Amino acid sequence: MNFRAQHLLSVRELSSDSIEEIFAVAEKMRPYANRQKVTRVLEGAVLGNMFFEPSTRTRVSFGCAFNLLGGEVRETTGLSNSALAKGESLYDTAQVLSGYSDVIVMRHPQSHSVEEFSLGSRIPVINGGDGPNEHPTQALLDLFTIKNELARLGQSIDQLSLTLLGDLKHGRTVHSLCHLLSLYSGLKIQLVAPEALSLPSSYVDLLVNAGHQVEIGSNLEKGLSQANIIYQTRIQEERFASAEEANQYKGYFRLNKQIYSDHCLPNAVIMHPLPRDSRNNANELDNDLNKEPGLAIFRQTDNGVLVRMALFACILGVENQLSKHERNVNWHVGLRK
Ligand code: CP
Repeated sequence: MNFRAQHLLSVRELSSDSIEEIFAVAEKMRPYANRQKVTRVLEGAVLGNMFFEPSTRTRVSFGCAFNLLGGEVRETTGLSNSALAKGESLYDTAQVLSGYSDVIVMRHPQSHSVEEFSLGSRIPVINGGDGPNEHPTQALLDLFTIKNELARLGQSIDQLSLTLLGDLKHGRTVHSLCHLLSLYSGLKIQLVAPEALSLPSSYVDLLVNAGHQVEIGSNLEKGLSQANIIYQTRIQEERFASAEEANQYKGYFRLNKQIYSDHCLPNAVIMHPLPRDSRNNANELDNDLNKEPGLAIFRQTDNGVLVRMALFACILGVENQLSKHERNVNWHVGLRK
């Protein structure tokens, strides 16, 4: 995929080469994301950040990424606050918003809604998550994190032994990640879920057909034992018919320091797309892991800014102009590692 002036609606559009291109540009974003330098390469550009479903990190990190490149952000949150609630179509909404912005990020609760929206857009549209279907930029930042964490351990992607854990049926981040992993072969992948929430067979087939060694089970301890990367997901209660149905699975898998010490490989990396459900009845990733060096969840969220900056730069064609618009920061940068 050549990103210039293109939509990013699905991970299916991505090739290994295009992913490597994005990751190389993401690495160039570190000085700006770490506030060592400022670049104003997108000065004058406007991002339309349209989130019709709840979000913290995707919405804010897309906004931050655009701001860090010097652009302005205009956003709307919640279906009820938009004219969609008055019956306006996605097509009309897209026609209108694309007159106001240079690129649009959209999240919406229905599968394929972002694709439908893109048909009315005159500017590039990035899928920020469409219902249970896909979350392509999360998959990109997850793969970027997997590669970086393995490198930190002195390993490469060929040595990946990944355990996907939790609600694999509804988790769109897992579905999108499976597509990216299908671009590789010969990896070890353990799928650990309650039977009713297991990974849909189409994704299992995708992994098997790519030549990965796939194990399926529902035993937490066994599923953790071989993994150098553990990717936990939340029970996606918003995708169930009722809260009662979702509640059956809350707390089914609880990963804490004791289980990590007793059953995981030394230095195993823990990832999670977040939010983690920290309520008592779920507590899926215990706070007693917060100081564990293997807990990568906040390195993962930081990486989201790098990857999203890279996507904006490539889509808007400024990836080679960053340093031309660069200066030192004016303010004191404190408490940042
Ligand atoms: N990972 C993720 O999509 O988080 P938000 O729902 O907070 O955007």
